[in-house]
Amino acid sequence: MPAPIAPKRVLVLNGPNLNMLGRRQPEVYGHDTLEDIRDACVDFAAPRGWDLDFRQSNHEGELVSWIQEARENADAVVINPAAYTHTSVAILDALLLLDIPVIEVHLSNIHKREAFRHHSFVSQAASGVICGFGAKGYLMALASLDSM
Ligand code: DQA
Repeated sequence: MPAPIAPKRVLVLNGPNLNMLGRRQPEVYGHDTLEDIRDACVDFAAPRGWDLDFRQSNHEGELVSWIQEARENADAVVINPAAYTHTSVAILDALLLLDIPVIEVHLSNIHKREAFRHHSFVSQAASGVICGFGAKGYLMALASLDSM
């Protein structure tokens, strides 16, 4: 009998202030709350039998620790590092430790916004980047993992 295929373990990480989605600049980030986005991700993962772990933190070090743990616990990472995208060498260095797919997501089109948002440290460790599609971007990121 063939060995059972282990479920794909996908870690979805969200950085600072994303817990305020729905109330935070809805004209930029949309009306979905982070719970809405988590529910949509769970609905996408469930029929695929994936093990989805969806987290948010306002603390850089906590995100770094979770990324380090993903070396053992995850087969892929989807990350919206929020403002740390543009500042965090620590998150980049942690992601560089991974040898699994890393998909970077932004709700807004960061390239259409202020100049300081145009540069992403995280992109240097990303397999792909999705931005400007709102909450749907998370599902696009998950869909990209279907074939990875
Ligand atoms: C964001 C874009 C970042 O520039 C910003 O700091 C965020 C959210 C996005 O999803 O569009 O907090 O990552």
